[in-house]
Amino acid sequence: MDNSQNLKTHWNTAYNKDDHQLGWFESNPEQTMQLVAKCHLNKNATILNVGVGTTTLIDTLLDQGYTNLVANDLSDLALQKLKERIKKSHHYNLNCITDDLTNPSKLQQLKNIDLWIDRDVLHFFLKDEEQKTYFYLIKKVISKNGFVLIAVFALDGAEKCCGLDLKRYNPEMLQQHLGNNFKLIDSFNHTFINPFGGERPYIYTLFQKQ
Ligand SMILES: C[S@@+](CC[C@H](N)C(=O)[O-])C[C@H]1O[C@@H](n2cnc3c(N)ncnc32)[C@H](O)[C@@H]1O
Repeated sequence: MDNSQNLKTHWNTAYNKDDHQLGWFESNPEQTMQLVAKCHLNKNATILNVGVGTTTLIDTLLDQGYTNLVANDLSDLALQKLKERIKKSHHYNLNCITDDLTNPSKLQQLKNIDLWIDRDVLHFFLKDEEQKTYFYLIKKVISKNGFVLIAVFALDGAEKCCGLDLKRYNPEMLQQHLGNNFKLIDSFNHTFINPFGGERPYIYTLFQKQ
């Protein structure tokens, strides 16, 4: 079995429980929405949420009137749970793409993404090659003047999540990966208190393609 298959199994197992028992579960994606507001997007802008899991962000975006959402994850179980929930609650047929961000195939076909959103995913990619592939994909699919919102564990953040090692970031490290064609619009620190009471320091960043 290759690494991607092992990780898929790992994440499918993680999602085989109630959302409230997930260490990264947030009932209100307030910080992400704060940055989404700064993009001043049209409601029909294409928003891609990578490593979406079963996040309540999709519900919140729909509640705020965004109509063109695309969801990606490696875990087909997470996507199935999310799609079913959203269909029930919002009568919305969520476009779900099962694909590996570190070895993308279907994701490569996307274009004109107005906003890329990643909360809690990039930091799992430890190898240079995986990070390169991830940032290459952003540059390939993002629209002219598109936005990139990345929320990852800060340099003083936890060293592991869901039993996996992490690479932690500051905004400068993300800027370096994105290059000069992307301008940092905003960034802030946020300490997330997870469902078990643990403190998890994150950095939230918003970049725009120039
Ligand atoms: C910690 S969870 C965060 C989920 C969601 N973004 C949130 O904020 O609730 C990390 C997510 O990234 C997904 N993931 C991990 N590696 C991935 C990969 N290589 N490609 C796509 N998704 C991946 C996992 O299945 C999981 O849903």
